[in-house]
Amino acid sequence: MKNLERLNETARLLVAEDKGLLAMDESTSTCNKRFAALNIPQTPEMRRMYREMLITTPGLNQCISGVILYDETLRQQLDDGRSFIQAVKDAGLMPGIKVDAGLKDFAGHPGEKICEGLDGLGERLAEYGKMSALFSKWRAVITIGEGIPSRALIEANAHMLARYAALSQEAGLVPIVEPEVLMDGEHTLERSGEVTEEMLKNLFYQLHIQGVCLEAMLLKCNMIVPGLACPVQNPVDEVAEATIKCLLRAVPAAVPGIVFLSGGQTSELASARLNAMNAKYKNHVPWELSFSYARAIQQPGMSVWAGNPANIEAAQKAIYHRAICNHAARKGEYSDEMEK
Ligand code: 13P
Repeated sequence: MKNLERLNETARLLVAEDKGLLAMDESTSTCNKRFAALNIPQTPEMRRMYREMLITTPGLNQCISGVILYDETLRQQLDDGRSFIQAVKDAGLMPGIKVDAGLKDFAGHPGEKICEGLDGLGERLAEYGKMSALFSKWRAVITIGEGIPSRALIEANAHMLARYAALSQEAGLVPIVEPEVLMDGEHTLERSGEVTEEMLKNLFYQLHIQGVCLEAMLLKCNMIVPGLACPVQNPVDEVAEATIKCLLRAVPAAVPGIVFLSGGQTSELASARLNAMNAKYKNHVPWELSFSYARAIQQPGMSVWAGNPANIEAAQKAIYHRAICNHAARKGEYSDEMEK
């Protein structure tokens, strides 16, 4: 019980003071893909330098409560010899760790992917706990398409996420439970809402079956948005309304916070949509509405950096700007003006 009270406090701190999370836990292959697009060499040293730049952004903890790291980063050091976890703590941020082991083809279901990583997870979580990680993340992915997602995928993901969350709580790390319905495709906003609601209802049923304490976790969720190739791109207020409607139907009030992923939205849209939700619904929903963005915070800074140490200061300014914009969006105080 004591353990769960501590986890509840950590979960609440992660979404307190209108701060959000910086996800910088890209797997090696995902990080390399982003580097390749900008002609940045895809080496462990470049990933280390890039991530050192991210966490040493001046003033980051004014807007960011915690960062999600990747296993590789946890085992690297900054130029000054400190471990990344130590440097994160020194920067006034809470350290977390991605623990799923990535996506594999889902047997018998062409076009669908399932996460691996439950084997040995208890031991890995215990090791991360010893390294003083305070929270963990597991990302499941749901693709919308012709005849998918399947019932099999939704149930398998719900079960896996719940098993992961129970193990994480047992090891003393707050689980950030992430079922991501992807934006890829031509589907409408309504279809995104149907699939997300179905996924979340199955998820919370399984979290209940596995005995996960809802007060001691966070939900990381997609917004309800039309597919990137959908001819109808709904305005910001419709996205906000559809997202809140879906969450009210499916997410118990005991969950302290919902942290949105950005999922391939532009940085500006990710801020504007979060802002619209908080401006209209902040005082009418039981959870904090926060962010846990990777691309929507990092991408402008990564482009400015482009692998050149001479660009670090300018890149950190770009990262700080995205953090400030999303901090404002949590208060419903973001506007286009901030982008000028
Ligand atoms: P994006 O914000 O780039 O979608 O990443 C968030 C994340 O951590 C996905 O697991």
